[in-house]
Amino acid sequence: MAKNTMTLTDNRNGKSYEYNIIDGTRGPSVVDISTFYKDSGMFTFDPGYTSTAACESKITFIDGENSELRYRGIDIADLAGKHSFLDVSYLLMNGRLPTEAESKNLDLEIRHRAFVDEGIIRLFDALPDRAHPMATMAASTMALSAFYKDHLHLEDEDEYKTMQNRIMAKMPTIAAMAYRNSIGTPLIYPDVNRYFTENFLYMLRAYPGGKMKYIGNGKNQEITQIEVDALDAILTLHADHEQNASTTTVRNVGSTEAHPYVAIASGISALWGAAHGGANEKVMDQLRMIGDVKNVPSFIAKAKDKNDPFRLMGFGHRVYKNRDPRAETLRDLQAQLRDKLNLDSKLIDIATEVERVALSDSYFQDRGLYPNIDFYSGVILTALKIPVEMFTPIFVIGRTPGWIAQWAELRRDPKHKIARPRQLYTGK
Ligand code: ACO
Repeated sequence: MAKNTMTLTDNRNGKSYEYNIIDGTRGPSVVDISTFYKDSGMFTFDPGYTSTAACESKITFIDGENSELRYRGIDIADLAGKHSFLDVSYLLMNGRLPTEAESKNLDLEIRHRAFVDEGIIRLFDALPDRAHPMATMAASTMALSAFYKDHLHLEDEDEYKTMQNRIMAKMPTIAAMAYRNSIGTPLIYPDVNRYFTENFLYMLRAYPGGKMKYIGNGKNQEITQIEVDALDAILTLHADHEQNASTTTVRNVGSTEAHPYVAIASGISALWGAAHGGANEKVMDQLRMIGDVKNVPSFIAKAKDKNDPFRLMGFGHRVYKNRDPRAETLRDLQAQLRDKLNLDSKLIDIATEVERVALSDSYFQDRGLYPNIDFYSGVILTALKIPVEMFTPIFVIGRTPGWIAQWAELRRDPKHKIARPRQLYTGK
C-alpha cells in the first residue's frame, strides 16, 4: 500500500477504496475523497462541516488547540495595534504587507472612494424607521452590485483592485449611515481628511455640518488617537478567520459566478446570526442582564442546564477548544484602556467574574469552552461610544478584507467548482 493514502472498506461487501492523503504547510492533513461518490456510489455525511476542508487556501491559518491565528503567515499579535487595519487588509488581499508608498496610496484611494452613490442613500427611505443597521447594510451592499456592474473580470488586475478598494472604502460609510438612518439623525458624509477608522467614528458621531463639538450643553464628540488605535486593532482582529460561516457563504455564493458585492452581502447576512457575528451584541445584553457579580453563579448554572436553551454568549468556538488568541489580545487591550477610556468598571467586573467562574467549572473545561473574541469587544466598543446595534456592523467592516481575499482566491483557483453538496434523504 502506498504511504500517503487511506483505505476505506465497506464492511457490507468487503470492497475497499483508496484515497490520497494531502499534507498542507501546517495543520491537519486531508483525505482527498473527491472521487468517493464515483467510486462507491455513496456520499460522505458531515452536517455543519465539522470534519470537512471545503477548499485549499493560503490566506489564514488557525491552530485551535494551540491558540494560534496567522494572516498570510504573520501572527495576529504582531499585526493588531502594530500595523494599521488598512495595511493588514492589504496583506490579506495581496499576500504581503504594503511598502510605505503602497500604504499611502491605499489610504488616499480609500478616503476618496468612501462616498456612496446618492441612490444608495435613497434606498434607506424605503426601509422602516429603526431598521437594524445590519439589515440596511446587507440591502445596501447588495444594491452596490446594481451601481457597479463591472468587477467580474479578475484577470484584469485594475478591475480587481478597484473592486476591493471600493467595497472596503464604502463599508464604514454604509454602516454609519445605516445607523444614523435607524435613529433618524441627519447623515454625515465622509471626510477625505480623515483616516479610514477615524472617518467611521466621525460619521457616527459628528453633528450636522461635521461639527464635533456642540455649542452649549452638547457632548464633546472629539475623536482621540487612543480611540482610533483601539478600534483599528479591533478591526484587525476581525479581518479574517479562514472558513467560518460567513466566509463559507461568500465562497459558496462566489462559486456561482455571482457579482462580488452580492457574495459579500450574503456574508453580511450570515454574519448577523447570534451564533456568529451577532454574538457580540448579545454579550452586552447578557452582562447587563446579569447586572451584578453576585448573580454570576445562577447564570452559569442556567448555561449548564440542558433543559434550558440559554447559552453563555461570547463563550465557545467551533475551532478554538483552547483560548481564542483574538480574545487574549482584546483582554490585554481592555486592561490598557481601562483608565484611558474610562471603561465601564461594573461590566468589566461582571465579565471577569463570569470568566473566572466558567473557567473553573468542569462543564466548560470538559467541552473546551473559553471566552471568544465577542466576549471582550463589547466593553471596549461601548467605551468608544459605539451603540450596541453597531457591534455586528463593526465586525462586518473588519471582516470585509477577509471576504474579498477569500472570494478572489476562490475565483482564481483553476480547480474551483460550484458549491453543490448532496444529502442523506430520509423523507417520504
Ligand atoms: N454556553 C453553554 N454551553 C455551550 C456553549 C455556551 N456558550 N457553547 C457550547 N456549549 C456546549 C453545547 O451545549 C454542547 O454541549 P454537549 O456536548 O453537552 O451537547 C458543547 O458545548 C458543544 O457545543 P456545540 O454547539 O456542539 O459546538 P459548536 O462548535 O457547534 O458551536 C458556537 C460553537 C456556535 C460558537 C457555540 O459555542 C455557541 O453557541 N457559543 C455562544 C455564541 C457565541 O459566542 N458565538 C460567537 C462565536 S465566535 C464568532 O463568531 C466571532
